[in-house]
Amino acid sequence: MILRQFPPMGVYETLFRFAEATDDYMGQAGTHPWAQGFPLTSAVPGGPELPESVAIGPDDRMYPKADGQPVLREAIAAYYNRFYDAGITADNVAVFAGGRPAIFAVLAFLRPEVEVAIEETEYTPYWDVLRILGREFSLIQSNAQNRFRPTIADHPTGTDVLLIKSNPCNPTGVTTRGENLAALVRHYSTDGRAALVDEAYEFFCEGEPESALAHVDDIDSTDLFVVGAATKGLQVPGMRVGWVVAAKEHIELFRNYSSFGMGGVSRPSQLYVTELLELERVAHARQALNAFYTGQRERYGEALARLGLELFSGNGGFYHWCRLPGGLNGDAFNERLFAHKAGILPGRLCDMARRGNDGPLGDMIRFSFGPLEPDSFENDVAILEQCL
Ligand SMILES: Cc1ncc(COP(=O)(O)O)c(C=O)c1O
Repeated sequence: MILRQFPPMGVYETLFRFAEATDDYMGQAGTHPWAQGFPLTSAVPGGPELPESVAIGPDDRMYPKADGQPVLREAIAAYYNRFYDAGITADNVAVFAGGRPAIFAVLAFLRPEVEVAIEETEYTPYWDVLRILGREFSLIQSNAQNRFRPTIADHPTGTDVLLIKSNPCNPTGVTTRGENLAALVRHYSTDGRAALVDEAYEFFCEGEPESALAHVDDIDSTDLFVVGAATKGLQVPGMRVGWVVAAKEHIELFRNYSSFGMGGVSRPSQLYVTELLELERVAHARQALNAFYTGQRERYGEALARLGLELFSGNGGFYHWCRLPGGLNGDAFNERLFAHKAGILPGRLCDMARRGNDGPLGDMIRFSFGPLEPDSFENDVAILEQCL
């Protein structure tokens, strides 16, 4: 074979196993997609409608700009300025075909001597990207001993370091905010330190959403990369739109990368997402998503605890992060769930040291309530109960 082989990332590994076992694709009608990280793609109760169409003219059929269409970059900058007083302009924004391509681009251009630091329990594909790029990384303790809640004291104190962190964290839902987030931003804003803060779940938290950009004085003097996406909060994973907010000189590099490596992002998708970011609409979306998913988090949390799982979840994201009873591991649990066309994400796939089912995350699972309709609750709990 001429190509290096590489397996799919963990969520897809689980989806492919599910498809083999059930002859169905997880997420289709009749399945219980608790392994999947997508939100409802129709209006949540009390939330804004999603447009059914977007008008396309001859200009929109032309090539897109490499760093994103000006209207979308302006809308993203206006969003962060309105809600976080970020003090940025469109020149601080680069648009990508989703959150993952944005993350990939930052890491692909990271100078070789920079050490990557990452929490021990994190978003599955960080591991794949670091591996394919041949990057070593050091782990910040995040396990049952500290209840998956590392503090600033656990972070590296040297220089030539880049932190990668999802906030709210996928899979744990633990959210760094307020003074703790300000301290993290300060720590990684000094010379020789950098951070990629992945805010895909910004809207999913208790209380007001919070971005690291609320604590950044002058992004141009930092090596901070704040990644956002339309995927979760704006409810459009299929549009494939994500972005990085960073210093202008980094944005120029991403433009150069796009010019040979991506070719920009679909213009209809960018137009659609620009509409979703209209300031009054997005204020409504922030509030409604937050309220709906806080309710879902609470009731699924109570049910899982009642069924004997030990919960470690924080109050962000749309996952519960919990330990199975009786030493059962995530894969064995999935075998039982597959018979009901249900499946979770085994905890081992969030282990940034990939120690398998014998490792510290072997009996942990990530239960997603992101794609679940409000009326699926009783049936979901009945299936969980049977399989436990
Ligand atoms: C932590 C985190 N970051 C980024 C993303 C963005 O993904 P996408 O590439 O689908 O926009 C996701 C989606 O699962 C995520 O969980």
